[in-house]
Amino acid sequence: MTAIDLLLTDCNVATMDGPGVGEITDAAIAIAQGRIVWVGPRRDAPQVATTERLDGQWVTPGLIDCHTHLVFGGTRVGEWEARLDGESYESIAKRGGGIRSTVAATRAASDDELRSSAQTRLDALIAGGVTTVEIKSGYGLDHTTELRMLRVAGELQGARVVRSFLGLHALPPDVARETYVRDMVEIVLPAAHAEGLVDQVDAFLETIAFNTDEVTALFRKAKALGLPVKLHADQLSDGKGAALAASFGALSADHVEHTGADGVAAMARSGTVAVLLPGAFHTLRETKLPPIDEFRRAKVAMAVATDCNPGSSPMLSLPLAMNFACVRFGLTPSEALAGVTRNAAAALGMAHEIGTIAAGKRADLVAWEIDRPAELAYWLGLTRATRRWIGGTAT
Ligand code: NIG
Ligand code: FE
Repeated sequence: MTAIDLLLTDCNVATMDGPGVGEITDAAIAIAQGRIVWVGPRRDAPQVATTERLDGQWVTPGLIDCHTHLVFGGTRVGEWEARLDGESYESIAKRGGGIRSTVAATRAASDDELRSSAQTRLDALIAGGVTTVEIKSGYGLDHTTELRMLRVAGELQGARVVRSFLGLHALPPDVARETYVRDMVEIVLPAAHAEGLVDQVDAFLETIAFNTDEVTALFRKAKALGLPVKLHADQLSDGKGAALAASFGALSADHVEHTGADGVAAMARSGTVAVLLPGAFHTLRETKLPPIDEFRRAKVAMAVATDCNPGSSPMLSLPLAMNFACVRFGLTPSEALAGVTRNAAAALGMAHEIGTIAAGKRADLVAWEIDRPAELAYWLGLTRATRRWIGGTAT
């Protein structure tokens, strides 16, 4: 075995590797060169000089927020008030508000303003146990601002960042539809990719956003560039988005409240993860539940994310998203924990690197002062994370 740099000991571990939460009580974890090299009962642990006793705390994989729109200008608090007064999300979008109003605020913001507001939000997610975050573009909707958003996302500190190109998020004002889609597909995505700013490609398939042909053109380009895809699918209506995503071998189909049996079957065949976003469901006061039982029966992996964005989900706590997934969508606390660890890693194409506590994985870990893993999803707004390690380094 490689020389061990650190042994975390006197802890209970939810490995998320194996049945349930893969629990090992009175355990230890050995770390070398940024990776986990051994995990098991403390009595079997290798002898090493540098140990850290955790006094019976629980250790989980670092949490992974696999769907956020963390970089944006302004807020949409006025629209939120209008929605509380009864106006719908679609109606606000149709009168030029919604995503377009965040686009105006994002274009007007300087890089420093975008960076500092996004860092404040990322710090809140990190306090809730996040060690990896996915961040989308999609509030620039022009060449310059889409790339600016992705650069800013890459400059944030304190967590691993995975970047998604979301040029097809909304049609900006004063641009012809065909020209816009063609430019995003043929010019902006390749330029962002050439600069190394894109890990994956996302789009919003919806009656108020883009259609199947437009998303297909984008996904073909993504595939030609060797980039994995994912999709905002079937959020407000059954647009057959999950099936479209699956036909491109997408890493994930996200939202999926309105996904039908055909979509679930297609996702099962392609190994596409269902990313559940209960913060958006809650904020938009949706009533149509995602087909959780069908996902379970078909063995479609379910992830849970905050969808942090200024319009439909101003949510900055992944444990709170876990609670909503349990209370509103009927996930078990173990499923919710798998949803922010193992399955969230799969939704980012990183299951070989992060998401479980197992030999060979990166040592991204969180220690929690809790009595049992279900307590992570239990509190509404209390954070019990005490320590975090990214690649074996305490942060
Ligand atoms: O994931 N559905 C589309 N995109 C976001 C909402 C973005 C916004 O309203 O600003 C979502 O919910
Ligand atoms: Fe989203």
